[in-house]
Amino acid sequence: MAIEIGDIDHVGIAVEDLDAAIELYRAVLGVEPTHRERVEDQGVEEVLFSVGSSFIQLLGAIGPDSPVGRSLASRGPGIHHVAYRVRDVAEALEHLRAEGVRLIDEAPREGSRNTLIAFVHPRSMEGVLVELVQERPTGGR
Ligand code: CO
Repeated sequence: MAIEIGDIDHVGIAVEDLDAAIELYRAVLGVEPTHRERVEDQGVEEVLFSVGSSFIQLLGAIGPDSPVGRSLASRGPGIHHVAYRVRDVAEALEHLRAEGVRLIDEAPREGSRNTLIAFVHPRSMEGVLVELVQERPTGGR
């Protein structure tokens, strides 16, 4: 059972105003959004910018009672989570469970871009909310 971390898939950044943040990133970093998606079950609208083989993910809250909405209310905008690419999320979760790591998601679930994801509790990860991302072949869904 191995976790097999690949690249960093993305760094998620909570923002108050998604459109203003997109303009800021465009103007300051010269990056163009490559993907925008509303992920209802996570209560977020996300925008991805390609940076090398990774993404920067800007996260706007759909409502104040969503996880990102609550994070914005308590901590303000900033880094929300770090996502690692893994070969197999289910296998990675089994490894973490065996290591006694506290999980938010006990099983993989649907992420954006047709990925499978799972979140790991920040209390087990030095205060960092960690996400595991498994890419799946596109076309389908
Ligand atoms: Co994410």
